[in-house]
Amino acid sequence: MATPLFPELETPSALVDVERMAANLDRMAAYAASHGLALRPHTKTHKTPELAVEQLRRGAAGVTVATVHEAEVMADVADDILMAYPPVGAWRLERLLALPAHVRLTVGLDSAEALDALAAAAAAAGRTIGVLIEADLGMHRAGVPDPAATVALARRAAEAAGVAYRGIMFYPGHIRQRTGEQGPVLERLAADLRRHLDALAAAGLEPEVVSGGSTPAGYQSHLVAGLTEIRPGTYIFNDRTTAVVDACSWDECAYSVLATVVSTAVPGQAVVDAGAKALAREEIRGADAPGYGALLDRPEVVVKTVSEEHGVLDLSATSWRPRVGDRVRIVPNHVCVSVNLHDRLWAVKGETVVGSWRIAARGWRADAAPVLDAGGR
Ligand SMILES: Cc1ncc(COP(=O)(O)O)c(C=O)c1O
Repeated sequence: MATPLFPELETPSALVDVERMAANLDRMAAYAASHGLALRPHTKTHKTPELAVEQLRRGAAGVTVATVHEAEVMADVADDILMAYPPVGAWRLERLLALPAHVRLTVGLDSAEALDALAAAAAAAGRTIGVLIEADLGMHRAGVPDPAATVALARRAAEAAGVAYRGIMFYPGHIRQRTGEQGPVLERLAADLRRHLDALAAAGLEPEVVSGGSTPAGYQSHLVAGLTEIRPGTYIFNDRTTAVVDACSWDECAYSVLATVVSTAVPGQAVVDAGAKALAREEIRGADAPGYGALLDRPEVVVKTVSEEHGVLDLSATSWRPRVGDRVRIVPNHVCVSVNLHDRLWAVKGETVVGSWRIAARGWRADAAPVLDAGGR
C-alpha cells in the first residue's frame, strides 16, 4: 500500500493549508483597504490567537469575538475587541470587565436590560465599554426591529455612565444566495440601513461605527452605503457552503479534515473516521447541495450521512474506489463548527506538515474548572 497522506498524523485531524489561508487573508485585507472599510475579522472561525495575529498583521482594525473566552484569549494579541454578542449575565460582565486594561472593548447589544446591566457593572468597575446597537436588517435572529428602537437604545447608551455609544452593528446572515444573485437583497439591506442611519442622524446620534459584513456577502460590502466596518470570519479558511454560493472557489478552501477509510463493506460507499464529532452535522441551507462535506481533491464525492464517529462517502458520482486504510481530506459544510470540535490545527504546505496551533479559544474557560461544586450530590 502507498504511504498514506500525512502519515505522522492521527485521524481525524484538522488541517490548514497555509498557502491558501495566506491568500484568503491577503485578498480580504486588500478588498477592505481598497474600499476604505475597516476589517474586523470574526475569530470564532479559527479561535486561534496566532491566526488573529496574521489578520492584524495584514491591517485588521481589531478582532470580533462571540464568547468571553474568545475575548480573554484574543486579549493576548489584540488591543481592540468587539464582542458581537449580547453581554447578558453577571458572569459575562464580570469576565468582560476583568479583561486587561490595554483592551478597548466594544459590545453589541439589542436590549435596555443588557445595556443597563453593562453600564452599571462598567461604572462600578471604573471602566468605559463601547456599545454598538444591534439592528435586525433581515436575518431575524437578534437586533432591534426598526429605526425608532435603534434611536431609543442609542440615546440610552449615549446618556449612561460606564458605556460609550459608538454606533450600530448588524449581521447579514440571511444573505446566502450565490454572489451573482445577491443584488436585490443587498439593495433592500442598504435601504433598511439608510433608514436607521437617517433616524440616528436626525436624533443627533450619528454613528462613528457601522459594522456589518459576512463571508458570503463579504466582497459585496462596498455596495452597502454607510458601512464603515466588516466582520467576516469564515473567509480565512472558507468551506463547502462558501464555495456553493460562489463566494470562493474550491481551490480557496484552506481547511480540511484528514480522515481514514475504515470500511468499504457496503457497496457504493466508503466509511471514514470523521463523523459529526469531527465535521459537524451542518446542512447547507438554501442551496441544492446535500450532505455534510466533500472531498478536497474529489468534490464530487460527498459525505452523505454522518454518525458521531462515522462519515459515509457516497461513491455514486465517481469511479474511484478507495481501499480500507486510504486517507482523504474532507472540506466540511461549515468550517467554524468543525474547528470548534478539534484541539489543534495542523499547518500543512502541500503534503508536508509544517507546524500546528492550539485552538486556544475553544470551549468556555481557560482553566476548564467546574463552575458548580458537584460534591455531595
Ligand atoms: C455577529 C456575526 N458577525 C460576523 C459573523 C461572520 O460571518 P461569516 O462566518 O459569514 O464570515 C458572524 C457569523 O456567524 C456573526 O454571527
